[in-house]
Amino acid sequence: MHNVILLGAPGAGKGTQAALLKDKLNVPTISTGDILRRNIKEGTPLGIEAKKYIDAGALVPDEVVVGLVKARLASDDCKDGFILDGFPRTVPQAEALDKIADIDVAINVDVPFELIVSRLSGRRVCICGETYHVSMLNGSNMCAKCGKELFIRDDDKTETIKKRLQVYSVETAPLIKYYEAQGKLKNIVATGTVEETFKDIMKVLND
Ligand code: AP5
Repeated sequence: MHNVILLGAPGAGKGTQAALLKDKLNVPTISTGDILRRNIKEGTPLGIEAKKYIDAGALVPDEVVVGLVKARLASDDCKDGFILDGFPRTVPQAEALDKIADIDVAINVDVPFELIVSRLSGRRVCICGETYHVSMLNGSNMCAKCGKELFIRDDDKTETIKKRLQVYSVETAPLIKYYEAQGKLKNIVATGTVEETFKDIMKVLND
């Protein structure tokens, strides 16, 4: 079962779990958010366009992200499996994905919104891709992996977090029913530690 989708609200911990799963399953993680942020950093036309949506807490148009994922899944390293983090995010994206790949399981990383707000407002990220929460940093603002200074994502401002959660409720939450109807949904209550959640996800994948 190695064609895996991680569903869940912004800040539920999808990226954190995807990083652990990637090493455990030895398959690539595909995060549309990371691909878009890379384009923003490089100043590509796609990045310039995507930034408007991301900074407003809105979704980037379906045809743009579907094109990105389709191209990425065609790569050789995806032939033995992949983990999708942050895609699909709308029903039309899920329908497009069904035409591109066979999904084994969609894991819903389930966290109440109150906890999400605290996770996102304390998130610190590194340019190398590592993600932390201030509570783990003991007052440091440096990446334990590469030593660079950590920063706050532009879309982690309180107002943008609220907007992203609203967008999630309207556009993305219907995917829970979509994958349930396909018999592929597994729900993981992810209010515990990173390690506890990872253990629960591995249990689902090994069942
Ligand atoms: P994206 O980058 O995908 O953001 P997201 O879905 O909003 O998810 P996040 O990265 O914010 O959170 P996460 O669930 O990965 O949580 P994390 O592990 O970091 O997308 C950004 C934007 O790009 C979107 O808003 C949209 O505009 C656009 N976009 C992307 N994909 C798109 C698509 N398919 N269609 C259209 N537009 C798209 O954890 C959060 C924090 O909690 C961290 O600080 C972490 O350390 C901490 N944490 C994690 N787990 C735990 C735990 N168990 N206990 C305590 N703290 C924890």
